[in-house]
Amino acid sequence: MCGIVGYIGSDNIKEILLDGLKELEYRGYDSAGIAILEEDEINSFKAVGKLKNLVDKTASFSTNAQGMGIGHTRWATHGKPTELNAHPHLGEFSYVVHNGIIENYQELKKELQSEGVNFLSQTDTEVIVHLFEKYYHTLQDPKKAFVETVKRLKGAYAILLITKVDKDRIFFAKNGSPMIVGNDENGDIYFGSSDAALIGKAKEVIYLDDGDYGWSSLGNIEIYNDGTKKELNKKPLIGDKVSAQKGGFRFFMEKEIYEQSEVLSDTIMGRVLDEEIKFEELDKSFFEGIERIQFCACGTSYNSALACAYLFERDAKIPTSVEIASEFRYKDPLLQKDTLFIVISQSGETADTLEALKMARDAGLKTLSICNVDNSSIVRIADRTLLTRAGIEKGVASTKAFATQVMVLWMLSLYLADIKGTMSREEIKGEIEVIRHIPKTVVVEDRLHEKIKRLSKRYLHGHGFFYIGRDIFYPLALEGALKLKEISYLHAEGYPAGEMKHGPIALADSELFTIALMPKSLHYDKVKSNVEELSARDATILAISPEEFELADDFIKTKHADHPMSEFFEMMVITQLLALEVSIRLGNDVDMPRNLAKSVTVE
Ligand code: AGP
Repeated sequence: MCGIVGYIGSDNIKEILLDGLKELEYRGYDSAGIAILEEDEINSFKAVGKLKNLVDKTASFSTNAQGMGIGHTRWATHGKPTELNAHPHLGEFSYVVHNGIIENYQELKKELQSEGVNFLSQTDTEVIVHLFEKYYHTLQDPKKAFVETVKRLKGAYAILLITKVDKDRIFFAKNGSPMIVGNDENGDIYFGSSDAALIGKAKEVIYLDDGDYGWSSLGNIEIYNDGTKKELNKKPLIGDKVSAQKGGFRFFMEKEIYEQSEVLSDTIMGRVLDEEIKFEELDKSFFEGIERIQFCACGTSYNSALACAYLFERDAKIPTSVEIASEFRYKDPLLQKDTLFIVISQSGETADTLEALKMARDAGLKTLSICNVDNSSIVRIADRTLLTRAGIEKGVASTKAFATQVMVLWMLSLYLADIKGTMSREEIKGEIEVIRHIPKTVVVEDRLHEKIKRLSKRYLHGHGFFYIGRDIFYPLALEGALKLKEISYLHAEGYPAGEMKHGPIALADSELFTIALMPKSLHYDKVKSNVEELSARDATILAISPEEFELADDFIKTKHADHPMSEFFEMMVITQLLALEVSIRLGNDVDMPRNLAKSVTVE
């Protein structure tokens, strides 16, 4: 996702900004830019693609004097990855960089346009710089103008702004997107959206809280929240880049599990309106003539498709089938023109999925990709793409990519239900309410993580794991089992709970571990009786449910019991943490498990 850097001082401003952006590359981006205020001039450079392109563009530009600069790597959300849409965005005399999404940008843009402001980009960010200049024109005070600007913004943001009308300061604000400000022993000031950009530069840092805003000049940082000036809570900055990228977590996978709340907010932002779902990338005409949906994917992406196929049939009442891409390719599939072919892929490079997509395209089907990497091969081939906005996922075992795929597909099922009139506006509003709460649902609480850490020691042996569930919890069981086997090397299977008695129950004994997904809002009694059957055969049961289950050997009580998707996301986190803790106890390399690669670009 996007990255931000900023600097005030007399060292080489350009190099410091480019260096900081380099450290943020791991988060993923599709364009980058910097703006430098030195003496009376602001120089700005932008480039699409890799940072190298920006480095080349700025090669003949140098900075020598005391000054300041802001920089940004952009992962496109509103508008394509073009130079015009890359940050910094400019007004008449100011430049801004921004992470997050300004939810009310359309309303603000209309207001500014009606006052004669000309917009150059398709981004939500550009409203910030124009708002600031509008308030500056009336108030003639940059600090007051910045405060008024921030008051008007709704949504998530981390913002840095520089302006020719105040050549000493960088203005900043943070709400919902991370932002850090720090200083070195000379009083030079550094900003970053993550520690990694500040390592080796700042000596002490302040992690801004939501609602914080302020300004900084050489040797001075002022932070306000709700009109009140805050004490500066400075902390020493650790010096190791890899651990900074891991943000204090033991493994990237662990960090990525914890990041799910933030990335799910990114996934839904700008797409979930009060009464409807909207995708900038889609229009209703794209679905004309579509009578059925075919999902195609591999691994975790297949599991997310399998889960959401239930929603497409239930909500949008559209026949939906799901195929594993490596099977699909060689089965001479019957491809009908009224089918929308949807591929799901984190990397956008998985060979089997890519080839299946080409087959669908060559057969004249409309194609849509659900993907995390813009400009990947799959994105380039599909007619349309919905980006999942998970940011770079480093752990080979996919976590946040799965969460965001499910979220995008769930939103898409509601979008289709709306088009087809299979759900009322009231029903869709109800679902939207639940969607808005999902980022809170996946926040990892210390108590839960501690419990799973302790409990994991009992699950390091045995002759196998069965993850069982029904309906959407069956694909979640598949995904839970996949996570465990990938990183613990223990045998694990996902199974539909009702299917156990048709064979696998023969394996049941005390060394067979059953991870039972027992949501309250969907077929609770049915799953319960399936788990009772296993318990009667002495299988060891770890029950995950909001309802106490007396036959469980171990029990993790969940909080949500009102909506299947809330239960789904909460249980997803539990299965991820369980796999993580078992793997750590076994001493495995969690992020790079044996025999696996992050992106499978061969057959
Ligand atoms: C999941 O943990 C995997 N590492 C793997 O199953 C992965 O989901 C699969 O290879 C598909 O990758 P993609 O989403 O990048 O296409």
